[in-house]
Amino acid sequence: MKPNIGISEKNRKRVVGALADILANEVALYIATRGAHWNVTGPQFGALHGFFEEQYEALDEIMDEVAERIRALGEKAPATVGGYAMARTIDDGAGEAKNAFEMIAGLLAAHEALASQLVAAAELADEAKDPVTEDFLIGLAEQHQKMAWMRRAHLA
Ligand SMILES: [Fe+2]
Repeated sequence: MKPNIGISEKNRKRVVGALADILANEVALYIATRGAHWNVTGPQFGALHGFFEEQYEALDEIMDEVAERIRALGEKAPATVGGYAMARTIDDGAGEAKNAFEMIAGLLAAHEALASQLVAAAELADEAKDPVTEDFLIGLAEQHQKMAWMRRAHLA
């Protein structure tokens, strides 16, 4: 049954497409952050192992919210690794980077790319006359900007 929530069919599909692209990148960043948690080494091991865990837990929540936003808009949430791999656009190699510095730098770049993607998608949702998704995306952009700052603070 199609949702009757005041958004045209065409606009609903456009917004869902943007959300699906974001979900693929959230999943990629989640896995990269898990990888950093697993693979990090060095004198800061304890602190970074815990820091990465906090961040992948936050990303777990975000993935769930994005997928459920797609459901609220009446579409099936993408749920295959192959589909995510094709839709992913961020560099997701940070979890296998050669040292802690490279891991943090890689994750920082991914958070910044996602924050930019979220702002662009919020503008698309505005054009599509979907203020609820627009507000949701701006909230996510704020979270990614904050996580990016925490990564940046490690590098300064
Ligand atoms: Fe663990």
